[in-house]
Amino acid sequence: QWAMKQIETAKGYETPKPTISDPLLTSQDIIAPPPAKKRKVERPEGKHGPLGESYQLPSTSFASRLNSLQGQTRIKNITVQRPSEVQESRLLLPIVAEEQPIMEAILLNPVVIICGETGSGKTTQVPQFLYEAGFGMPGSDNPGMIGVTQPRRVAAMSMASRVAHELSLTSSKVSYQIRYDGTVSPDTSIKFMTDGVLLRELATDFLLTKYSVIIIDEAHERSINTDILIGVLSRVLKLREDMWKDGKDGAKPLRLVIMSATLRVSDFAENKALFPLPPPIINVAARQHPVTIHFSRRTSSDYVNEAIRKVGKIHTRLPPGGILVFLTGQNEINGVCRRLEGMFGKKALSNRNLKTAVISPTDTISHVALNQADIEAEEMELGFDGLEEIPSGDEGDEFDVDDLESDDDGRALDEELDLIAAETESFVHIVPLYSLLPSDKQMKVFATPPPNSRLVVVSTNIAETSLTIPGIRYVVDCGRAKERCYDISSGMQSFQVTWVSKASAAQRAGRAGRTGSGHCYRLYSSALFEHHFDKFTQPEILRTPIEGIVLQMKSMHIDVVANFPFPTSPDRNMLRKAEKLLIMLGALGSPTAGLVAGASAVGGGITALGKSMALFPLHPRFSRMLVSGQQHGCLPYVIAVVAALAVGDPFIHEEGLATDDDGDDSSSEAVRARRKAYFQTMATHSSLGNSISDVFKILSVVGAYEYAGGGHKFCADHFVRLKMMEEIHKLRSQISNIIEASFLGTSAMFTPQLPPPSDLQLKSLRQLMTSAFIDQVAIRKDLVDQNTESGTQYSMAKGIPYRAMGIDEDVFLHPSSVLASASPPQYIIYTEVVRTSRAWLKGLTMINPSWLSSLGKSLCSFSRPAPDSSGLLVAIPYFGPHRWELPPVKCTEGLQK
Ligand code: CDP
Ligand code: MG
Repeated sequence: QWAMKQIETAKGYETPKPTISDPLLTSQDIIAPPPAKKRKVERPEGKHGPLGESYQLPSTSFASRLNSLQGQTRIKNITVQRPSEVQESRLLLPIVAEEQPIMEAILLNPVVIICGETGSGKTTQVPQFLYEAGFGMPGSDNPGMIGVTQPRRVAAMSMASRVAHELSLTSSKVSYQIRYDGTVSPDTSIKFMTDGVLLRELATDFLLTKYSVIIIDEAHERSINTDILIGVLSRVLKLREDMWKDGKDGAKPLRLVIMSATLRVSDFAENKALFPLPPPIINVAARQHPVTIHFSRRTSSDYVNEAIRKVGKIHTRLPPGGILVFLTGQNEINGVCRRLEGMFGKKALSNRNLKTAVISPTDTISHVALNQADIEAEEMELGFDGLEEIPSGDEGDEFDVDDLESDDDGRALDEELDLIAAETESFVHIVPLYSLLPSDKQMKVFATPPPNSRLVVVSTNIAETSLTIPGIRYVVDCGRAKERCYDISSGMQSFQVTWVSKASAAQRAGRAGRTGSGHCYRLYSSALFEHHFDKFTQPEILRTPIEGIVLQMKSMHIDVVANFPFPTSPDRNMLRKAEKLLIMLGALGSPTAGLVAGASAVGGGITALGKSMALFPLHPRFSRMLVSGQQHGCLPYVIAVVAALAVGDPFIHEEGLATDDDGDDSSSEAVRARRKAYFQTMATHSSLGNSISDVFKILSVVGAYEYAGGGHKFCADHFVRLKMMEEIHKLRSQISNIIEASFLGTSAMFTPQLPPPSDLQLKSLRQLMTSAFIDQVAIRKDLVDQNTESGTQYSMAKGIPYRAMGIDEDVFLHPSSVLASASPPQYIIYTEVVRTSRAWLKGLTMINPSWLSSLGKSLCSFSRPAPDSSGLLVAIPYFGPHRWELPPVKCTEGLQK
């Protein structure tokens, strides 16, 4: 890979640079900013620092000054050579007609907002407009790079290669940068990156001196990173403008382009704290073909079977055209793909005896959706008894296709599909699409499907806006999405399947109208849609823990986070909670009296420890483990543990087996049995053994993976996901590099194969875990409830209840934990709470309660010291708000005070 990169880079250097010539293609009358002039601009006293706590508003508009220079400087355009097929398809994109107004707006305004339907050409074309106008070209008026941010890695990679192809340029000229990987070179003009990458660049180069324009793409998704970026960039623009006006050597202004697939941009456009001068909004007229929306008469809870049924009907009865199915997650998607393949795939087609060959008894769809009583009960529960259809014909009814709803005759699903399959002439070419899928498989959606086949893409909401899949004519929308939910008060996270917003549903439907008129089949009723769907998806900042973001912001000297110009301000409680955790981890100093106004305890500057922590693109708990992980040669193990925890649990659990294994039901039974035996052996014989921490289970599999040289077979044998193991490997190397580069004198050379840790190292690791999760301590309930519930017998079947700090209900050890099978430990720390039928603790480590009084001193109160039986002066520590009694500690001088 290294060699390939060298070759590619070398190629990039050889490529003759496009010449800067007279205008050829576009925008004759556009003028560029004037050459830097020495002009003194007064700055208010005492408000230096990149972001003082009260923000300054930009003074004059670009437009007024640029207008006065009209006609003085002509922009030099770059000649580009596009492949002819690109030339043609480009002309069909609505945005190409808007090049002139877009470029004028960008040149005359520091901030421009572009709204345009997905597929109108924003992502692929706007960077090209800028490139052709000379942006990113050394020696031009805007020599800095064109930076484009994407919320998803796949999009950053695929868009970079697409734009490189359209411009006939190399991958070093039009490059991408994602967390683990990139093609950036000194030659790069256009750089696609994830928004996280740009945020981290801001921490080291706040003025973004390498860029002349930043495009924030997919702003409608309102990811946290996007929101923070827009807030920070609003200030960077101002600083760059000031420097340019000051005539600082070579300083050029920075421009910001915000792109959205929806018209809902008021949080950016009308937010005076963000942009005092409202930025112009350019709407790209949608050249969307009409899409007919079909609602289901009733909403079935079994949307998976409904989706299969619908795809079957479309495939057999409707004219050619790709089908895009929106489902909620990987397991569902893999299951549906397998079943569709079995019924309508190539093999099924070649085997004409469909009834016996395709739907074998083990493969029949187990619970048929259309149990009338169930549906009625559900609809009643939702409060719709009328079941009236709201016609939606205004979106292009001229299409004369079968109404797929019409034959709702209550036939059993398998019987019905049987008939459908028998009618089929062509086969389906099935492509799953979800974020955990390896990148090369994700790219399969862009490939041309084989002849005589119909493309069927089964996707999560990843296909909603950022990827436009060619040739889709039918959309099947389950109306749901899996969302990470976060309970502010308990800190509990869970993935829940929720209804999407109306805006998302519209986006999904729109995917059908890209190449021609299309149809969208919604697997829910219009009544449900009207009454139960939110208008828009909530910005992520309102739904996620924000500790990492707060630390990042503090490291950028945004001291009073509450004053930050968020497009949508996060919950004050969340900010306070995040600051509290950061103070507990030692990343922030306690808020000083001067900064704190009454109850709103915000403030508290970053400590030296916090600055070190902010260098890692990780949750502050993990950075905390890393920065204090050097003792006893623990660092390589800490890096491995942190990488594994940050990537996520690599083990395939019971629920994942059925769909992750390629075999049929009987073989997944066998796999299940094998897996059970494997984990039993692991729990008893592991060299790290003793069942004291789930983290050690992960550490041992990471170690074994490296000794085995990785690979599919190892992962299958050990029930881990290859993609996650690869990510853990990459993240280990990345963290090691960060440590090598940022902490002088610390050696963290990445050696994938680690010798087994010593007992002392294992103990240190547990202590490091304890200090990072000091607020996530749980204690067996019978120990704390001794007085009130003495003698209570807990049924083993129900599990042993625990009490966790800050959670007002019984919690239980998750069955997947190594601690769940051992004798129940008294004190543990946990990394995660998951709510299903009850609250489960995951990622457990058994701890010694005596550690708590030293590692969590700030959470302890101590009794008055008294002599014990041996005459020694001891105090009883009480931990946390519930005042859990800990083992007595010897009184040192400090404690006596
Ligand atoms: O960003 P936006 O959704 O407005 O559109 P885009 O991603 O720039 O896509 C414009 C067109 O390029 C679409 O018709 C895509 O299908 C096409 N495209 C492609 O053919 N191959 C790619 N790898 C990316 C885009
Ligand atoms: Mg796009």
